[in-house]
Amino acid sequence: MSNTPLRRHRGYVAVLGLSALLTAPAMAEDAAGNDKAIALGRGLFAREWVVGDARSHGGDGLGPVYNERSCAGCHHLGGPGGAATADKNIDILSPAGDASSNGGFFYAFSMNFGGEGFDYRISNNAPNTRPKPVDVAALVRLHPGFREASSVVLHRYGPDADYRSWREQVPGPHGTVALRVTQRNPTPLFGIGLIDGIPDEAIEAAARRRLPAASAVKGRVSRLADGRVGRFGWKAQTATLREFVLSAAAGELGLEVPGRRQAADPRVPPIAAPGLDLNEDECTALTAYVASLPPPRVLPPGDMKQERTLKAGATTFRAIGCAHCHVPKLGKVDGLYSDLLLHDMSPLLADTGFYGVFTASDPAPAPKRGPNGKPAGANVQEWRTPPLWGLRDSYPYMHDGRAETIEQAIAFHGGEGAGAAQRYAQLSARERQQVEEFLLSLAAPKQP
Ligand code: HEC
Ligand code: HEC
Repeated sequence: MSNTPLRRHRGYVAVLGLSALLTAPAMAEDAAGNDKAIALGRGLFAREWVVGDARSHGGDGLGPVYNERSCAGCHHLGGPGGAATADKNIDILSPAGDASSNGGFFYAFSMNFGGEGFDYRISNNAPNTRPKPVDVAALVRLHPGFREASSVVLHRYGPDADYRSWREQVPGPHGTVALRVTQRNPTPLFGIGLIDGIPDEAIEAAARRRLPAASAVKGRVSRLADGRVGRFGWKAQTATLREFVLSAAAGELGLEVPGRRQAADPRVPPIAAPGLDLNEDECTALTAYVASLPPPRVLPPGDMKQERTLKAGATTFRAIGCAHCHVPKLGKVDGLYSDLLLHDMSPLLADTGFYGVFTASDPAPAPKRGPNGKPAGANVQEWRTPPLWGLRDSYPYMHDGRAETIEQAIAFHGGEGAGAAQRYAQLSARERQQVEEFLLSLAAPKQP
């Protein structure tokens, strides 16, 4: 295997430029400042927020709506910063095919932007059916977030006892429209600072690769409305780590932060937060801490027999085409197993494209078209190749945690991933087990 722990460790030092390598006094001072920020950020990541929290800066603390009380509440498997089991999934509310549909998940939106407001259509993706216009006004009466986005986060907790019963009656048929809930499983954050440091050019170069032996595998860069390259999140919907951290604070915990409004109660006219919950320095510290989370490690084989098994598994992983998308090394980041590109995974894995969070900001900017004239970001069938490093400690698998095992996760690969999944299914039981053992050697980092 090419990623022995030692090589990966060296890569880490080289990329991060740890303080040991800094010589000039100014740089040493910077490093000390960064260590301080990381220590502050570690506390903020673990902090259990309360409503009306006295530690905020004139804000209202946790909520009014929220999904958890702390970052660590959802990012903890294998240590602080890890993934979470499906009970921590976030719920996303979207219009369903029609009031009677309760079957598969076959819909797509074509959005018309420009002018006032927002209009979209719904389709079950079946051939020869016309996308139907959606009664947006009816949707907005159910959840005002639909004014700005075709899918919105349905928060788990609200400010009063009635929130729960309101929340329970939202999914399902409502006259002319129907709503359904789909989910996103928390991702692990280990090594995410290294992902933040991968140059756009490396991602763009991955998209230009031609794979004559696997022409079905394409992969495209997630272009955001402003032209930047998206790389974070299941849909590669966010360009930088800092932006994701701010959005998570505002969206998951209901914290007012610089540049992001806290998630608002969808049942009442939104009231602006009285002040900030996290200030600029704290957001910088939280980001610095998340960026400092060590990258996952590769568990060394216990004996020579296992060493052969792991080597054979890694070889098969490449031979059957898994590595076309789960690219072992991207930019300088070795052992990532992702191209950070969007791949069409077929209607089997289809779910919402963009989703929004309802806030008190007056008209939040609707997602715009990208520079190529197409809607920005991923479509419903596209997903970012998830990095497989740390896989051992990030179960369950896939965007909504629908796969309990690696074998199931592979079986769910459709579309561009179908060929590799079929080749996997045709392997002997022994070869499949070798691939699985290889993937299970990719583990969360040891943390102090
Ligand atoms: C309720 C659970 C929950 C809480 C609380 C939570 N997250 Fe997350 N986190 C998620 C989910 C789900 C995703 C994937 C979302 C997506 O891609 O649509 C995610 C993704 C992320 C990502 C992007 C990771 C990647 O692989 O690209 C970052 C960074 C992140 N969270 C940071 C934080 C921080 C910082 C906090 C605290 C302010 C936090 N999260 C709180 C559930 C949570
Ligand atoms: C066409 C690109 C592509 C190929 C080829 C591919 N994958 Fe994936 N893989 C993906 C995408 C995209 C997802 C996420 C899909 C989702 O969550 O809905 C994924 C998810 C996974 C997951 C779950 C990861 C997690 O964190 O939940 C595993 C495990 C996995 N793939 C292993 C494999 C193996 C093994 C092969 C070879 C048999 C393979 N993949 C081939 C694109 C690909």
